[in-house]
Amino acid sequence: MRVRAFAKINLSLRVLGARADGYHELRTIFQSIALHDTLTIRAARGPFRLTCDDPQCPSDDTNLIWRAAERLWRAAGRRGAARDIAVDVEKRIPLNGGLGGGSSDAAATLRALGRLWGIEEREVRAAAKELGADVPYFLEGGTVLGVERGDLLFPLIDRPAAWVVLVLPEFGVSTKEAFAWFDEAARGGGDRSPERHALRVAEEMVNDLEAPVAARYPAVARIARALRKAGAIHAGMSGSGSAVFGLFGRRTDAFRTAGALASRARRTIVTRTLNRSKYQALAAK
Ligand code: C5P
Repeated sequence: MRVRAFAKINLSLRVLGARADGYHELRTIFQSIALHDTLTIRAARGPFRLTCDDPQCPSDDTNLIWRAAERLWRAAGRRGAARDIAVDVEKRIPLNGGLGGGSSDAAATLRALGRLWGIEEREVRAAAKELGADVPYFLEGGTVLGVERGDLLFPLIDRPAAWVVLVLPEFGVSTKEAFAWFDEAARGGGDRSPERHALRVAEEMVNDLEAPVAARYPAVARIARALRKAGAIHAGMSGSGSAVFGLFGRRTDAFRTAGALASRARRTIVTRTLNRSKYQALAAK
């Protein structure tokens, strides 16, 4: 069985405050894009096995694919460690880019093994929520509003299709760190005073993690500016970074910009937004 695990960008990501459980209360708009990993899942006698064509990608039980398999194995009422399944991953979504690759791989695993092992959808959804705040989104796809930890979802009407230029700096950002930097800036007041912040929350299409990340990595802000200057309809950091995206109406503008912004220090990828019906049709294949 081959399944595709699509990436996402966050068209907007507002951080409303810190929660008692260590997470942050969010209001974010997720958007699926065509860039994807491919998982090949097959029966193979013996302990659960995971291989990945990208050496940076862990192939042990720290990988969310492994944890998704273990979680569903237990949901299926089986004892011991998951077994008799092998997963091979063609990794195309950059790691630590804020594009949701790990979470999407986990959701694709849940969908595939859930079907294989006859697990109720309710159980699959519960497993997704436990694996990570972004995982439930990848069971849905398209344009979706996420609140609470980003895991209470309200599907929105699909946005008009757009070409997406992804600019991938050579550094990655850990999600945990990005949120910690946000908290640090909020404690420091300044632009992050509650009043200023409340005003900024009223605006749409802003990523509240962008300023604290750009304070450590100024390239993030520079790339977003360059994308806007090149005519992007909208540009910003995705999730907790480090990937920065620009939306374009025309294919030629997207490719021209991707060519102009690529350098030794950063890779660029041109892809497209994916609406919900396409996402669901392609992800389920
Ligand atoms: O849920 P996930 O494991 O993907 O989250 C990684 C980290 O990102 C969390 O441990 C937390 O520090 C931070 N996070 C957060 N608020 C969210 C989502 C993630 O603080 N809504």
